[in-house]
Amino acid sequence: AGTGPLAGLKALVTSGPTHEPIDPVRYIANRSSGKQGHAIAAALARLGAETLLISGPVNLPDPLGVSTKHVETAREMLAACEAALPADIAVCAAAVADWRVDNEAGQKIKKEKGGLPQLSFTENPDILATLSKLNHSRPRLVIGFAAETENVIEHASAKRERKGCDWIVANDVSVDETGGGVMGGEENTIHLIRAEGREDWPRMAKSAAAEKLARAIAQHFSLSDEG
Ligand code: PMT
Repeated sequence: AGTGPLAGLKALVTSGPTHEPIDPVRYIANRSSGKQGHAIAAALARLGAETLLISGPVNLPDPLGVSTKHVETAREMLAACEAALPADIAVCAAAVADWRVDNEAGQKIKKEKGGLPQLSFTENPDILATLSKLNHSRPRLVIGFAAETENVIEHASAKRERKGCDWIVANDVSVDETGGGVMGGEENTIHLIRAEGREDWPRMAKSAAAEKLARAIAQHFSLSDEG
């Protein structure tokens, strides 16, 4: 068992993108690198939590001190989260694809056939909302992220209410002048939105943001366990 302020607590963290297949060789994805989610899993483990990281496809090593489960699709990520319950803390930092192709081809779609492939889409399950709305096995603290490109605070606050999570970590994922940004980049500027109000954090390395979030979680449990 670990030592530290989160010792005795079990944490679940999702990270990275999901890949949604079009055919056996093609997929739909997004720019998430997993850096933020992986750093959060590592920070929670350093504070003593027994941590399971559920990661979409990324080019990062598995963090030390954390059990890592690799998945590809949103449906696999949800199943891995459900299999990991019960947990005390859930942090959903993954950029889960909102939609998947519902006419996935069993064989590689051939160009020779002429014409263009017609993809049709269906909605993926919402992992954060599913975990937040559980009755008996709901984690005690469910934290979502909100990746927004405009009206960041407003949209993130609405997302917190709609999905039913306790805290939401808002970040602006607009692409900057250099074609980079928070998704895939090294730094993040976070607004932590809770029922009791909002904290605006300065821009910092994702590892530092992860550390600060893990400390806020530890503080939350030390207060709730006292009361
Ligand atoms: O991976 P990096 O390159 O380090 O970048 C980090 C990040 C920008 C991906 C990360 O900080 C972040 O914002 N993650 C959430 C990305 C996202 O998909 O945001 P969203 O606003 O679309 O979703 C809101 C919340 O619902 C998120 O907690 C998301 O994990 C969750 N969700 C969304 C859809 C879905 N089907 N299931 C979910 O659980």
